[in-house]
Amino acid sequence: MARVLILGGTRDAVDLAGAASALAGIEVIYSLAGVTRNPNLPDCEIRSGGFGGAEGLRKYLADARIDAVIDATHPFAAKITANAAAACGGENIPRLKYLRPPWRPAPGDNWIEVSSSKDAALFLADHPGTAFLTTGTRQLSAFAGLTDCRFVVRYIHAPKDGAPLENCEVVVSRGPFDEEGETALMRSHGIDVLVCKNSGGDAAAAKLGAARALTIPVIMIARPPPPDSEIAETEAAAIAWLRENI
Ligand SMILES: NC(=O)c1ccc[n+]([C@@H]2O[C@H](COP(=O)([O-])OP(=O)(O)OC[C@H]3O[C@@H](n4cnc5c(N)ncnc54)[C@H](OP(=O)(O)O)[C@@H]3O)[C@@H](O)[C@H]2O)c1
Repeated sequence: MARVLILGGTRDAVDLAGAASALAGIEVIYSLAGVTRNPNLPDCEIRSGGFGGAEGLRKYLADARIDAVIDATHPFAAKITANAAAACGGENIPRLKYLRPPWRPAPGDNWIEVSSSKDAALFLADHPGTAFLTTGTRQLSAFAGLTDCRFVVRYIHAPKDGAPLENCEVVVSRGPFDEEGETALMRSHGIDVLVCKNSGGDAAAAKLGAARALTIPVIMIARPPPPDSEIAETEAAAIAWLRENI
């Protein structure tokens, strides 16, 4: 059996791990950072928690006799992707980045493209209103101090101490979300602007359709540069790579 490590933490990664596990002769180990309570999990071997940097991951690859790595982490998870590149390089293990193409604006979209959460906050400082922040709940500090803005933030679990922002309403729900639901949510909260990261893929795209339908501008945070590696943009391409590389 060939042992394949899938670095996960996204819906696409869970789906890919399921598809890879169904291949004959492959044993999949799905790894997640361990930062989400009750994460979605594929039906295969699971490991959870950081490896201890690139060197920790290199040691894990050797100890666990990993034959190939698919880095299916989120496009904004730059640290684990850099660690995977260094560790696989060190152990001479084939590595693929599974990366959905970024979203592109469609007719009717009004996007303001920025390069970081900090730049998104700078834009909001000049254009105050009610912002739906979907940048991830660990990025909220960038928006602190914008006293002229109101925020709506969605959490998977209600935060024990509330959101770390003033003028912030918390919505608790877990995806997948559809366009109808996103439109209703943005309308009922009086959203003036949507702030999001350019994650790409289908799982989080409904909010973009909702913003388009409501003619709400989108502050779109660009991705960090992609890794220097082979990239698969679809699950089928990632599975084809696996067949070729093990
Ligand atoms: N960033 C986002 O917007 C976003 C959105 C949705 C999901 N996620 C998922 O959430 C996780 C954390 O994201 P992040 O932005 O904090 O990542 P990051 O900054 O690239 O990684 C931080 C540290 O978390 C550990 N880690 C991350 N992914 C891991 C994995 N799949 N398996 C084992 N350890 C992992 C590593 O610790 P060690 O150095 O100790 O190995 C890494 O150095 C990722 O798995 C990502 O796919 C991120």
